[in-house]
Amino acid sequence: MSSHDVSQAAAEAAARTQDAVDSRRLNDAIAELAGFGGRSDGGVARETLTPLDVEARRHLVGRARALGCSVSVDTCGNLFFRRAGQQADLPPVLTGSHIDTQPVGGKLDGAYGVIAGLEVIQALNDAGVATRRPVEVVVWTNEEGSRFGPGAMGSSAFAQPERLAGYRASRDAEGVTFGDALDATLAQMPDVERTALGHAVDSCVELHIEQGPVLEDANVPLGVVTGIQSVRWFSVTVSGAAAHAGTTPMEVRRDAMRAALELAGHLYARGDAMRASGLRMTLGRWRVGPNSINTIPGEVEFTVDARCVDEDVLTRFEAALRDAVASLDAADGFTAQVQSLFTRATTHFPLPMTALVERACARASANAGEGAPIEVTSGAFHDAMYVADLCPTAMIFVPSRSGISHNAAEYTEPHQLYLGAQALAYVVAELACR
Ligand code: GLV
Ligand code: MN
Ligand code: MN
Repeated sequence: MSSHDVSQAAAEAAARTQDAVDSRRLNDAIAELAGFGGRSDGGVARETLTPLDVEARRHLVGRARALGCSVSVDTCGNLFFRRAGQQADLPPVLTGSHIDTQPVGGKLDGAYGVIAGLEVIQALNDAGVATRRPVEVVVWTNEEGSRFGPGAMGSSAFAQPERLAGYRASRDAEGVTFGDALDATLAQMPDVERTALGHAVDSCVELHIEQGPVLEDANVPLGVVTGIQSVRWFSVTVSGAAAHAGTTPMEVRRDAMRAALELAGHLYARGDAMRASGLRMTLGRWRVGPNSINTIPGEVEFTVDARCVDEDVLTRFEAALRDAVASLDAADGFTAQVQSLFTRATTHFPLPMTALVERACARASANAGEGAPIEVTSGAFHDAMYVADLCPTAMIFVPSRSGISHNAAEYTEPHQLYLGAQALAYVVAELACR
């Protein structure tokens, strides 16, 4: 076949696969997965490598095998469901996302991309499409980073396996290491083939909810993601002196909480001043020692999450943060330190991949009588940002109601979820048939 014939055949297979996606089956499967850790408020609490995560993984392994996939797990716990291609030795087209949640998350953040990946496999089966390359659905370990920092550990270790050794030492709030939790999870999957971390991949596309308001405001169901904004995480520790709350005169106190709050006030003011440049800043986790009602806090640690599309803005914010911490450190009676936990520069997805996503989204939206897709930048980070280091990568977004996620109220219309899976099916099938 000429290259024109190959592209023509790939586009036809993509259209047939897109048309075989089943909305009911997709939405039922999302609801089923949400049962693992489901809460009465509609949210899901399924942090990484917990017993619920293991149960959910086992559920997905069963589903994937029923679809005819072979299943493997790598040394970071990333799970792969592979539908064979006509040329088994070619690197696969990868799709998928994560199934871990925030301490309280929704049904869709991550889970949607995994379930939609399995729906694509089902659609390929139903449409009778034999792809040249294998198709692999991945479940990345610990994308959220809420239990063990940093986030997107599985995909980052996949992109650079030597990172795993450092990640294994990361501890959760109870002192459990990522390594121990990982080994316990792997021990419960003895029937799943173990593979090395970081096999070759041809290309990758991740489907995700937007988690922001842009698509809803534009009233369109599908977004072509052009890139992911830059992120920097820090931990700030302020030490003073713990002392009795009732007996210590106010003027001699070295209250670490008071100093930390003043520092936080300064950071919020800087953040506000840089808001017009697109900076987003969050002081999300606080640890107070000894955390007692009648003891003056002796040590306070808080985290800083700073994001922006413009790297220079983040660099200026980081400089302001380090200056403020250094001034407090120089003050009498206090020490203060800042530690960098995670840095990731802006990700730009390659044009041929965004063009393919655009075509796939345009076809799905037009067939449904919906508005044409628009380009968006991701405010959240995603596993795709690390895979983008390895191979041509892209993302597709569907709207999030009121832009809400990392919250039990996270919601996307079932019809929009369907269109997203249709767009995904087109992209995966076309890439795998090339
Ligand atoms: C991922 O959940 C992020 O924090 O962007
Ligand atoms: Mn996510
Ligand atoms: Mn998330």
